[in-house]
Formats: sequence, structure tokens, C-alpha cells
Amino acid sequence: MNHRIQFRAPGGPEVLEWVEAPLQAPGPGEARVRHTAIGVNYIDVYQRSGAYPVPLPAALGFEAAGVVEALGAGVAGLDVGQRVAYVDGPTGAYAQARNHPAARLVALPGSIPDEEAAALIFKGLTAHMLVRRVWQPHRGDWVLVHAAAGGVGLILTRWLAAEGVRVIGVVSTEAKAETVKEEGAHSVLVIPRGGSYSDLASSVKRITGGKGVRVAYDSVGRDSFEGSLDSLAPFGLLASFGRASGAVPLVDVADLGRRGALAVQRPSLFPHVADPADLHAAAKELFEVHARGMVRAHIHDRLPLREAAQAHRLLESRATQGALVLIP
Ligand SMILES: NC(=O)c1ccc[n+]([C@@H]2O[C@H](COP(=O)([O-])OP(=O)(O)OC[C@H]3O[C@@H](n4cnc5c(N)ncnc54)[C@H](OP(=O)(O)O)[C@@H]3O)[C@@H](O)[C@H]2O)c1
Repeated sequence: MNHRIQFRAPGGPEVLEWVEAPLQAPGPGEARVRHTAIGVNYIDVYQRSGAYPVPLPAALGFEAAGVVEALGAGVAGLDVGQRVAYVDGPTGAYAQARNHPAARLVALPGSIPDEEAAALIFKGLTAHMLVRRVWQPHRGDWVLVHAAAGGVGLILTRWLAAEGVRVIGVVSTEAKAETVKEEGAHSVLVIPRGGSYSDLASSVKRITGGKGVRVAYDSVGRDSFEGSLDSLAPFGLLASFGRASGAVPLVDVADLGRRGALAVQRPSLFPHVADPADLHAAAKELFEVHARGMVRAHIHDRLPLREAAQAHRLLESRATQGALVLIP
């Protein structure tokens, strides 16, 4: 019998339950994927906790790698036995197997093992969005990367550094700072848990010789938002792409002008890959930069799928560096 993780009401990790999930034959345009590795992402926490409300009971998970087991009517370009990964909804990646829209499946190159794919595809495509769509990096520019030792953060830092961008990472521990430096960051600022971001901008100005950064990639949200804005150079961009610490404040557009003609953008991966052609083009480019060593997957740990609640505890406690992968 097939199993999945679901929750009936939002709450802490304990609401996640392991349930039987009978599988139908794949419908028209669908493929059945037998999962081999499942990626854990912070959006799973937002959904489970109720920060992003979803219809209940809810399946969870946007990212997995696996093998095509059966094809529905009208599916072309995929073979049974082929290795694939995917990155978006409908949710339900926290399962042993599931049916998924075939057009949303990305064929995996032999150079990327399944566990790495499950740590790379969602987070790496997010980095792709940030370095290819949101802002084109320029060699020598300064940027700020929050949660730089996280799943997205390590990939983003390495990619930007490989493009010649000077990255200032922000992390909560010295151990994380070491990891971020290994990925090529120019400097790393440590703000411990419970610490204040009030000195962030002055530290950034000191490192950049008073200039500030061209882009602040901020996935922390509420706690870091003001510090990120204050760290920007004139005409700088705050790419506010997550809210691990809570929802960001409302933005006064006129105030952005007074602070130096700043821009704020709320990038989201799903619109960027909504068109299958965009999804496949972005994945192709991600796999190319992976093959060149410009990005790599970081697996903090692997846990059994049944222990998804423990994975959420680890992620929320800020104990992880890189990605958590669930093994069905
Ligand atoms: N917009 C999009 O399309 C998109 C796509 C993917 C991911 N994201 C966002 O990118 C971020 C990273 O996702 P991820 O899955 O790779 O997670 P992650 O970065 O591995 O984990 C979140 C990290 O945020 C930092 N953090 C700072 N304050 C925190 C707080 N109060 N509570 C919890 N964590 C805090 C922690 O690092 P330190 O302890 O070092 O501070 C923690 O490790 C998330 O905000 C996610 O929502 C957005």
C-alpha cells in the first residue's frame, strides 16, 4: 500500500501523520513517479503551520526525485523507468509514489544522483530565478545573502561567487559562517539566534567601503527587512523571497524614493516556471552550471519519510546547513 504524509489541521510538526494513500492509474497527461528522495523546503513549514493556508486535509511537499513507473494517456517524451524530478504542485511530494502532471517532470542527467536532485531542483531553480531573472549579476558588485548556509543560501552564494559577485553572507553561527566561506563568500556576518539586525547596515557599509550592496537577497523576512533596506546602495534592490522569521512589513513606496530610489521585489519561483518551456529551460541551465561546478547540492541529513515531523523540527530550529532529504 502506498503511504504519504498529510495533516488535518495546521500546527506544529506533530500534526504530520503517516497515512495510507491508495494510488489510481495515472490519468491523461499524468505519469506515476515512484519517489526515491524527497526535498524538504521552508514552504512546507509555512503550509503546515498555517502561515500559508491550504485546503484540509492537506498533502505536503513540492520537490522529489524518482522513477517513472506508469504513463497516462497522451504522454509523450517520457519513458517508464526514466529518472525524473519535479519542483511544483499540486503538493504531495511527501509520499512513496504519486501521479504528477507529466509536462512538469524534468529528466535527470546521469551526473546527478537522486538524493542530490532532491536537494537541488527546487532550491537550485530558486537560485536560477534570482541570478538569471531577478537581477543579472555583474562581476565585482556587492550583494547580501541572508540565511546563506541554508538550502537555497549555499547554492545562491556559490553561484553568485562563481559569477564574480562579492557576497556578504548572514548566518547565525560560526560553523555556518565557515561553510559559507567555503562556497566563496567574500565576508560572513554572524547574527546569533535572538540577536538584533540593527547593526547589519553599518557592518555592510564598513565591508563595502561605505557603498552598500546592489542587491539584498532576503529570505528571513520580518526580522531582517529593515536592515536589508538600510544596507542597499542607491538604486539597490531588495529581493524579498521568503519569511522564515515572519511576514514582512508593509512597504511605503514613497519612503523607498527617499532612501535612495530603492526597489523591492517579491520573487516567487512558481510563476517563473509556470510555463513548461520556462521550467525545462531553467532546469537545463541549472544542470549545466552544476556540471561546471558553479552550484552543488548540500545534504545536511537524510531521514525516513515517516520522520518528516523530525525534519521540520530540525529546519525550524535553524540546525541545518543545506538541505534535508526524506527517503521513502
Ligand atoms: N520565493 C520563492 O520562490 C522561494 C523558493 C524557495 C525558497 N524560498 C525561501 O527561501 C528561504 C530558504 O528556504 P530553505 O528551504 O532553503 O530553508 P533554509 O534556508 O535551509 O532554512 C531557513 C534558514 O533561515 C534562517 N533564519 C533566520 N531567522 C529565522 C527564524 N526566525 N526562523 C527560522 N529560520 C530563520 C536560518 O538560518 P540561520 O540560522 O543561519 O539564520 C535557517 O536555517 C525560505 O524563507 C523560503 O521560504 C523562497
